[in-house]
Amino acid sequence: LNLGILISGRGSNMESILKAIKRKKIPINPAIIISNKPDAKGLKIAQKMGIKTEVIESKNFKGSRLDYDKKIISTLEKHGVTPKNGLICLAGFMRIISPEFVKKYKNRIINIHPALLPAFPGLDAQKQAIDNGAKYSGCTVHFVDSGVDTGPIILQLVVKVKNNDTEKTLSKRILAKEHKAYPEAVRLFAENRIKIVGRKTIIS
Ligand code: GRF
Repeated sequence: LNLGILISGRGSNMESILKAIKRKKIPINPAIIISNKPDAKGLKIAQKMGIKTEVIESKNFKGSRLDYDKKIISTLEKHGVTPKNGLICLAGFMRIISPEFVKKYKNRIINIHPALLPAFPGLDAQKQAIDNGAKYSGCTVHFVDSGVDTGPIILQLVVKVKNNDTEKTLSKRILAKEHKAYPEAVRLFAENRIKIVGRKTIIS
């Protein structure tokens, strides 16, 4: 099983996954990190850990979303992340992926979102939680389908929202949970313990 991780920035979730693979011996090969931004901090982190990286710049890209995604797909395949033998983690990848990409890698693309889905999908999820007076929030790892933050949920970790929380303080506590949840979801996938039944997953 070969893993491709797509990032756009900081890469802290990517780092937590790569570290867990090494330390906890998750049965998956971290094959390639792809960033759509050349200055993503996560690229340096991956390189330091000895993991291959590629940049496929999305800014000024001439072509459709599908053309762009085809470049991503061919890069993934070049590194062995195939629809048969691959897992793709979106980790702060700030692009919507095309339905064709989702279909090709059906149930093999997962994402992390900093809220308890289906609450607060989309951008600024932590701010949405604060603004809406949620008492609890957290993070969700889920399969990617053709919607935004809508696919079958793999796992969630909960954080209590404090009276004096700001977007920043809440985001920090949620992020700490993300770093636990994402590697755990990768392990469940790699150990073949996730079954998808309709819109739900069953974890064994
Ligand atoms: C995380 O909060 C993740 O939930 C969201 O984007 C952020 C990425 O952070 N999708 P990082 O790049 O993994 O540090």
